[in-house]
Amino acid sequence: MPLIKVRDLVKEFDGQTVLSNIQLDLNEGDVQVLMGASGSGKSTLLRCLNRLIEPTSGSIIFRDKEVLGPNVDVRELRKQIGFVFQQFALYSHLSVLDNVTLGLRKLHHLGKEEAKERALLELSHFDMTAHREKYPSQLSGGQKQRVAIARALAMDPAVLVLDEPTSALDPIMSRDVADLINRLHGEGITMICVTHDLHLARNIADTVMFLDKGIIRANDRIDHLSKDANPEIRAFFSAEDQTK
Ligand SMILES: Nc1ncnc2c1ncn2[C@@H]1O[C@H](COP(=O)(O)OP(=O)(O)OP(=O)(O)O)[C@@H](O)[C@H]1O
Ligand SMILES: [Mg+2]
Repeated sequence: MPLIKVRDLVKEFDGQTVLSNIQLDLNEGDVQVLMGASGSGKSTLLRCLNRLIEPTSGSIIFRDKEVLGPNVDVRELRKQIGFVFQQFALYSHLSVLDNVTLGLRKLHHLGKEEAKERALLELSHFDMTAHREKYPSQLSGGQKQRVAIARALAMDPAVLVLDEPTSALDPIMSRDVADLINRLHGEGITMICVTHDLHLARNIADTVMFLDKGIIRANDRIDHLSKDANPEIRAFFSAEDQTK
């Protein structure tokens, strides 16, 4: 039984179809990567998962329950599906530590000391303990992203959703975040990650979904995609790795 099962998902904005008939099965422990040109609907699909965007039709089953029903506790859903965004991931007016404790206090209702303890533990897993009193503007891009991931994981979500986690980073920091994602994969954390970075996708993905104008063109293991029947897909996924 997949952790998340998306069926026939459609999203229209102002009569324009942005997602067409999306099907997705995400199994526990899997890393699913989403790729596709800008505007192909990747972020929209992610945002439908925790109802930051309301789909036009279709079904999303999370742990055997329909996510799109009228009586769904959206706060609870968002605790279970943790998000990390490309930019503006952190609250700029809060320290690193307070960024991580905020959700623990507000959503998990932990007391001050308990939230702090939990946050410091999570920050220590990401080598960010020494930076706990800093503000986001005092951190590098890679450090910000590590804090954003620590903050999401502190909430103990069932799945971690990452939207272009490395696109604002230089190649070295991108690798750092890729290594981190691999470590989390090794720890059995289920993830969905949008990226334009084929190197990252090769590094982390169990399967890659390729979206084109809201339509799934392929969803398979990357070594299969480099031999896909469609020449465009084949060319895209067998491109030389420039960053090796
Ligand atoms: N709130 C909105 N209202 C109207 N149209 C929207 C809205 N959000 C997204 N769209 C449109 O939906 C399409 C898909 O957008 P989306 O952000 O999902 O693309 P993406 O694949 O994530 O692109 P990128 O790689 O640039 O992040 C785009 O054409 C976009 O203009
Ligand atoms: Mg996007």
